[in-house]
Amino acid sequence: MPAMLESLDTLEADALAALSAASDAPALESWRIEYLGGKGRMKSAAAGLKDVSKEEKPAAGKRLNEVKQAIEAAFKARQSEVGKGGGGGGANSAGPAIDLTEPGIAPELGRRHVISRVTEELCDVFGRMGFEVVTGPELEDDQHNFVKLNIPAEHPAREPIDNFYVDDPLKTDVPRMLRSQTSTVQIRTMESRKPPLRIISPGRVYRPDTVDATHSFMFHQLEGLYVDRKVSMVDLKTTLYSFARSFFGPDAEIQLVPSYFPFTEPSAEFYMKIRLRPDEPAKWVELGGCGMVDPAVFEAVGYDPEEWTGFAFGFGIERIAMGKYSIPDIRMLFENDVRFLKQL
Ligand code: DAH
Repeated sequence: MPAMLESLDTLEADALAALSAASDAPALESWRIEYLGGKGRMKSAAAGLKDVSKEEKPAAGKRLNEVKQAIEAAFKARQSEVGKGGGGGGANSAGPAIDLTEPGIAPELGRRHVISRVTEELCDVFGRMGFEVVTGPELEDDQHNFVKLNIPAEHPAREPIDNFYVDDPLKTDVPRMLRSQTSTVQIRTMESRKPPLRIISPGRVYRPDTVDATHSFMFHQLEGLYVDRKVSMVDLKTTLYSFARSFFGPDAEIQLVPSYFPFTEPSAEFYMKIRLRPDEPAKWVELGGCGMVDPAVFEAVGYDPEEWTGFAFGFGIERIAMGKYSIPDIRMLFENDVRFLKQL
């Protein structure tokens, strides 16, 4: 047998024998240095390869790799044995190296953010009433955010100072903007589908409001739209009432207060009696707006207002979450203080 192969056999046998004799961590470390270290025996064997004749080189190289893999694997196996205290009669045989009766360290588990969970619950509740979830883009244009929702050019809601325009509204035909309401999705859905429809659409909206306990420049809304023949205000109220009771419980109270929105006629604000602070009684809080879809909106999307009727609503999801969990300040939902989020 060529000399190189012979010395590799010896190296392997020596290494394995020395390894089974190593019975604690320091012994394993000196073994590692001697055999696998930067100046160890495996390294010098590899360096010897350059002196081997050309014909013998492939076999020697192959064997060198085998030996290296074999002793590395044996080292890992031995390491875990020794670690577990299975020292096989060595220094650790007196008992296990770790005390399994010690209380463990519980891993910190993450959880979904309360806004995501409330959104999901809202979709479930409306899903059971037959509403399908659709989504729309956050980067919108003023056609979908205003024009087709019957909000005229001079309407104060369109002021550049009250919106995040991406294009200059004075210099662009169809300026892009971050949507200020999810009502945009009513338009997008009606443009792409034929009635009847029953959809809800959760998502982020943006308004340059000064941040305080009840305002944020970004928040979430849930939009709803129901289009069919002979839909009435009674259908709207029944739907909102069923939602309130499924989401907040059988004692939930709601109120519709007459109001004005350009895209609904008649329009109402939707109030619920909820508790925003754990230490205060429940109060009437406005959760959003609703109403019967204005015929001008149907015309803008090519639906015949003589044939089709519908209701729509839009709520603030933060308000709903704050009511459900008695959260007094909207900023708590975005600061991501884990001590707060953990309680929900
Ligand atoms: N988009 C309105 C807002 O952000 C809320 C709203 C009111 C939505 C009435 C509707 C509606 O669908 O019918 O203030």
